[in-house]
Amino acid sequence: MRTSTLTARRVAAMIAAGSTALLLVNSASARKPFTADELAAMESKLTASAKRGYDMWYGARADMANNGLSCANCHPDAAATNPQTFPKFMPMFDRVAAYREMVNWCIENPQGGKALGADSADMIALEAYSFVLHRGVPIAAGLQTRQTSGPTPKNARGLNVPGTGIGFDKK
Ligand code: HEC
Repeated sequence: MRTSTLTARRVAAMIAAGSTALLLVNSASARKPFTADELAAMESKLTASAKRGYDMWYGARADMANNGLSCANCHPDAAATNPQTFPKFMPMFDRVAAYREMVNWCIENPQGGKALGADSADMIALEAYSFVLHRGVPIAAGLQTRQTSGPTPKNARGLNVPGTGIGFDKK
């Protein structure tokens, strides 16, 4: 009994010592917190990417379709894209797939267009648009449903940008 108490104390002390050491390492290597200006600059880069994604969502890149369709025809305001459910098993691939693979699946199949490079700025822009609109939606990787509620954008497009005028983007 006594031995186990001592052991428990020793373990607790080791953990305490270990966590102190970890904190020291972290504080030595951590950078200063971002300033408000730095955060604003980063947010504006993300917004620029999401705006690009928004344009593409509504048809700005002609080679993404050969039939006049754009993402917005079937996924207005990024509806039913469910970024919070990825990665997940997708029957059409018979394996766990990433969000961007579904984007390319939709470009090549319903739209008959040319797939985007997985790491291209345009693919990231499409992701940025959909993910930004889904901010605050709890992550539910693997959730196999298309009945998840859509994003609730503050305005019609979730981004404070004028429409491109392409397709049915006439609001
Ligand atoms: C003609 C209609 C149509 C168009 C256009 C279309 N999609 Fe889809 N999309 C679908 C359908 C149908 C599914 C469901 C496929 C399945 O799981 O069987 C889907 C699924 C998805 C998913 C996965 C959703 C989930 O919960 O599994 C994403 C992401 C997605 N589309 C993104 C896009 C993007 C980005 C574009 C434009 C590049 C696009 N789609 C264009 C019909 C469309």
